[in-house]
Amino acid sequence: MCGIVGYVGHQSALDVVLDGLRRLEYRGYDSAGVAVVTGEDLAVERKAGRLQNLETLLDEVGRDNFAGTVGMGHTRWATHGAPIDRNSHPHRDTTNRVAVVHNGIIENFLALRSELEGLGVEMASDTDTETVAHLVSFAYNEGDTKGDFVASVRKVVNRLEGAFTLVFTNADEPDTVVAARRNSPLVVGVGEDEYFVASDVAAFIAHTKQAVELGQDQMVVLTRSGYQVTDFAGEPAEAKPFTVNWDLSAAEKGGHEYFMLKEIEEQPEALANTLRGHFANGRIVLDEQRLSDQDLRDVDKVFVIACGSAYHSGLVAKYAIEHWTRLPVEVELASEFRYRDPVLDRDTLVVAVSQSGETADTLEAVRHARAQKARVLAVCNTNGAQIPRESDAVLYTHAGPEIGVASTKAFLAQIAANYLVGLALAQARGTKYPDEVAREFHELEAMPEAVQRVLGTIDQVKALGRELADSKAVLFLGRHVGYPVALEGALKLKELAYMHAEGFAAGELKHGPIALIEENLPVVVVMPSPKGRAVLHSKLVSNISEIQARGARTIVIAEEGDETVRPFADHLIEIPAVPTLLQPLISTIPLQVLAAEIATARGYDVDKPRNLAKSVTVE
Ligand code: AGP
Ligand code: GLU
Repeated sequence: MCGIVGYVGHQSALDVVLDGLRRLEYRGYDSAGVAVVTGEDLAVERKAGRLQNLETLLDEVGRDNFAGTVGMGHTRWATHGAPIDRNSHPHRDTTNRVAVVHNGIIENFLALRSELEGLGVEMASDTDTETVAHLVSFAYNEGDTKGDFVASVRKVVNRLEGAFTLVFTNADEPDTVVAARRNSPLVVGVGEDEYFVASDVAAFIAHTKQAVELGQDQMVVLTRSGYQVTDFAGEPAEAKPFTVNWDLSAAEKGGHEYFMLKEIEEQPEALANTLRGHFANGRIVLDEQRLSDQDLRDVDKVFVIACGSAYHSGLVAKYAIEHWTRLPVEVELASEFRYRDPVLDRDTLVVAVSQSGETADTLEAVRHARAQKARVLAVCNTNGAQIPRESDAVLYTHAGPEIGVASTKAFLAQIAANYLVGLALAQARGTKYPDEVAREFHELEAMPEAVQRVLGTIDQVKALGRELADSKAVLFLGRHVGYPVALEGALKLKELAYMHAEGFAAGELKHGPIALIEENLPVVVVMPSPKGRAVLHSKLVSNISEIQARGARTIVIAEEGDETVRPFADHLIEIPAVPTLLQPLISTIPLQVLAAEIATARGYDVDKPRNLAKSVTVE
């Protein structure tokens, strides 16, 4: 989710806020806007596109209309509503006196929106955020919090569900900025008689390095005399002060050397945000996907089309979707799909997976599928991108902007979204009982925590990466859902360390690849759980024994407590026990870290690998 800056102080709020938004540009966004309290009014401008578009607009309207020392700004990464001017933040109430900017997703916005429309409010945008501006205005102008801005904000945030960092200004309260956070980041900057709120410290460390991290369900009120932190009940709350010891470049990467390393750490949040709001009243809810249950029941075949890591997310999902729905699932490279004249008709569901939503190969495949009358559902991380625009339906992942060229958090979010599609198909077709669908969803919901646990144990993987930095090649083996993970691990190593790497289905070893095994060749093996379908486990143990007998250096990713495999592992990387179909969400992480560490040890730029672009918009 994107960038927020709020300010109360003695400098030009417009200058401070714009400077802060520039320092948050790296986070990727699709529109920007500012609000400044000017005397008795609120001056607001917002514009789709780059920040420069907003700056040009401010020059046109005249920056002197934005004279004031209290204000806020926003760079939007659209989740609800296309990235166009009227959906850009700040959003205002009908009196134009209350303004709000928001990072995150208000899950229950549809109910709030219909409540407001029932009160005669005409929405000016398609966003979830706008509902909040109207609700705070109602609370401030009538009812038991009338005239009390902070209490009005508190009353409203207690009604919201989902993920939100919200910052408010009010023309009637010219010296105050109010902010609240749940499941999205917010930090306070404490300067000399000036105070800041922002999505991350990069926005204000040019002014101060004294900061305060806000906790879950906390609010902060900035005034000229200081800041007060409370909980959502209005009680004073503890918030930890800290001194930012990063320079600006490091701040933009959350203290990491590269965006990719920050994005690896963001994977629990990316998963949680992608799943958020998709299970209600005991059912899977894919609100944006716009395919009716009957449409889903009519499906008699599924294609997943994508490129690169997105393709691997499809290969992972194939196992689950076929198991849950009993539908045939073909996973195709988009660049091959339309040239082989695939068999498609109106009962075919084509799932087009793309982080950027602009990949030319995938876009052309979507066009081919629609020309064949197939229904296309886009799984995309970029609101309003070309592929969702040309699809019949869309399910957005909410991994937030992914800056590193090598996909990490978007890949995990794609797997989760593909699983949601599979569960929605199973639910509509009745191939899974409601309680079974619920169980699968809740197992998915537990995965961000499992991912967090793996992230806590990756130092050993970094050390191993430094040891392998001079290897000529690395092979990756897996079975079942571990096979696409092996492919993804090889892709990460190729694209980051420019090292020859190849992923294989372990069962293929004796059909050729075992000839590659030589003394000390690193081979990464993704082990299934020893519980459940143990046949896969024992076969893979045999495969490891075969390659170890031929001198391979075995690096084994295995479930905690898997003692059978231990004697065959020159390096054992343990991961938590999770359901078989969900293991890719955690077994991928050591492979991401391994590739990044080897690349770093080789002196390469992990964020911008040679010859590669974040979005391949040519075929
Ligand atoms: C993965 O690390 C690469 N960045 C690349 O394979 C990527 O997954 C592929 O180009 C597809 O991009 P998309 O998801 O934006 O369509
Ligand atoms: N959900 C809000 C919107 O789509 C905020 C998105 C963001 O985090 O930038 O406008």
